[in-house]
Amino acid sequence: MTHSPAPDAAGAGVPAGPALTDPEALRRRALAALLAARERTALLTDSVEDHELTSQHSPLMSPLVWDLAHIGNQEELWLLRAVAGREAMRPEIDGLYDAFEHPRATRPTLPLLPPAEARAYASEVRGRALDVLDGTALREDRPLLRDGFAFGMIAQHEQQHDETMLITHQLRSGPAVLSAPVPPAPTDADALPVEVLVPGGPFTMGTSTEPWALDNERPAHVRDVPAFFLDTAPVTCGAYLRFVEDGGYTERRWWAPEGWAMVREHELAAPLFWHRDDGRWLRRRFGVTETVPEEEPVLHVSWYEADAYARWAGRRLPSEAEWEKAARHDPVSGRSTRYPWGDEDPTPDRANLGQRHLRPARAGAYAAGQSPLGVRQLIGDVWEWTSSDFLPHPGFAAFPYREYSEVFFGPAHKVLRGGSFAVDPVACRGTFRNWDLPVRRQIFSGLRTARDA
Ligand code: AVJ
Ligand code: FE
Repeated sequence: MTHSPAPDAAGAGVPAGPALTDPEALRRRALAALLAARERTALLTDSVEDHELTSQHSPLMSPLVWDLAHIGNQEELWLLRAVAGREAMRPEIDGLYDAFEHPRATRPTLPLLPPAEARAYASEVRGRALDVLDGTALREDRPLLRDGFAFGMIAQHEQQHDETMLITHQLRSGPAVLSAPVPPAPTDADALPVEVLVPGGPFTMGTSTEPWALDNERPAHVRDVPAFFLDTAPVTCGAYLRFVEDGGYTERRWWAPEGWAMVREHELAAPLFWHRDDGRWLRRRFGVTETVPEEEPVLHVSWYEADAYARWAGRRLPSEAEWEKAARHDPVSGRSTRYPWGDEDPTPDRANLGQRHLRPARAGAYAAGQSPLGVRQLIGDVWEWTSSDFLPHPGFAAFPYREYSEVFFGPAHKVLRGGSFAVDPVACRGTFRNWDLPVRRQIFSGLRTARDA
């Protein structure tokens, strides 16, 4: 594959997207995004007793009360201090909520703000932040304010922690406290081809025009991607079950060496939250135990499991560039669109996003959200592991802080794309990039497979 810089304006560029020139419309969009995030934070933190906010449900996760005050602290740092030049409200707590000072496993031992104080702090910050939004000109010459970027970034940050808190909910034991309707069933899944041919050639990856795109999504650049085949839909639990029952977890040949070491060390035999009972496979999902649904995309697999499954199936994971080309390249216009279905924002008939449901929709759902070539569920449902390391796009510049993306670049982290049912639309685009360690499986991760053409 080759890299070359490509301004969005040049032929194959990205459209202006949702750029709003009216500052009042921008302000309303920022306000709506901040309010929606806080409503979700409240649902996730008010649905359990205070002692469940302060306890640790897994060493992989922070206590929920840490996420809550961290959300407020980041909002204070960026909207009150960086944008508005205010003094620190409580300088003594900054260190507690700095993700780099304290690893997740140690956070319960810190003198964290207790639930009532954490709530009061986040809400005090929010009140002041809304005043700043009201009273600050969204000046084009200040990068943090251009297109309301800092407000969009903070809404995305809160929504990302809301997904993290939903993962903590999935890890907690005890009866269910959350519920949601079942996602829509596919209407024509039987008629779908198993895979789609994505023709070879250049496409525009990344963006220079999406106003709230984060630093690692930038800039737009051209990549040449040879022809490949991609699964029409994510790999289902039923397909993954055949791998399990074929002895997939007992045969070294399917696994990367580090993946095999992980399987042996932790005696893995199936995705996280699955167990076998009397010859049947069951899974635990937000406090409910149920039969593993064969038609639903598989969830809670690590990169190593995704990689092994693909090899067993005689296929491979798509690269990140292949994934983005399948999700954004319009073969008719030659342009890259914001989403598989075009440039319009997500709607409930196009994608399973925003925690409207507490599970992925069955494979083949969301016909209205398919790509021009007919690939389904690229956006929403499950995060999709790619074969790629998390690396900067050519021309990357850290903004506004190195600790968001730059410090994670390198071979240690693998890229996930597309978002899950737990991702809010404000933090989901055809260009959005997520990353994690290849052993992680508490996240809402699945896969689809590819092969060379
Ligand atoms: C992009 C999901 C890997 O949660 O570690 C939240 C997002 N960064 N606060 C994470 C993030 C800073 C990040 N991920
Ligand atoms: Fe954070």
